[in-house]
Amino acid sequence: MAQPRILILGAPGAGKGTQSAKITDEFDVDHITTGDALRNNKEMDISELDTEYDTPGEYMDRGELVPDEVVNAIVDEALSQADGFVLDGYPRNVEQAEELEDMTDLDVVLSLEVGEEELVHRLTGRRMDPETGDIYHVEYNPPEDPDVEARLEQRDDDTEETVRERLSVFHENTEPVIEYYEGEGVLERVDGEQAPDAVWEDVKETIENAV
Ligand code: AP5
Repeated sequence: MAQPRILILGAPGAGKGTQSAKITDEFDVDHITTGDALRNNKEMDISELDTEYDTPGEYMDRGELVPDEVVNAIVDEALSQADGFVLDGYPRNVEQAEELEDMTDLDVVLSLEVGEEELVHRLTGRRMDPETGDIYHVEYNPPEDPDVEARLEQRDDDTEETVRERLSVFHENTEPVIEYYEGEGVLERVDGEQAPDAVWEDVKETIENAV
């Protein structure tokens, strides 16, 4: 059987990264995440594209979307090298969703649903281990190892002000993407406000039923 092609949608902090890590392990697929790809290229010079800012990082630190041209190229390249995948962070607007249709078919589109105040709480408390990339939360999921705890870092865009801006960008640009897939009859909504393991049970079952 071919590897599944999974799209995971959800607001900032909905748990896309957390669930994608589990999907990658369980279904042996690549994790394609535009957020990580862009964070690794924050200083890339994109000025020749005649964009408002000269680097992806200037958009990201303001909580704004990086121009489609930059992101479309990253996803196209990553998809061309993947057999199965979980795609996380793309599409973020309807134009990107239309681009994606030309790049690949999808087996399942998941939407993780979480309320606004919980999203803010999750993002402002999120910490990352710079050595492993593992994601923690100061309250919900702190590391057991004190050495790991001592080296945890907060993402530049996880301050409350930038989180609020990211959520407003989500409502304006990305909620229409969820409606777009709903209209196509392929959307599977998952209650993302449960504990991580309960969310995972629902995510796993939904994927297994779809492929
Ligand atoms: P990106 O990196 O994609 O960020 P995001 O969508 O804002 O999503 P996050 O990674 O912040 O959240 P998540 O849903 O993965 O949550 P997580 O699992 O970590 O994008 C960053 C920026 O890049 C954008 O603002 C934009 O500038 C640019 N960009 C990216 N893609 C783009 C595109 N396509 N076009 C244009 N620009 C683009 O969980 C969050 C926290 O909650 C963690 O601490 C975790 O431990 C905790 N947690 C997770 N699940 C649970 C649970 N069930 N219960 C309790 N806590 C939980």
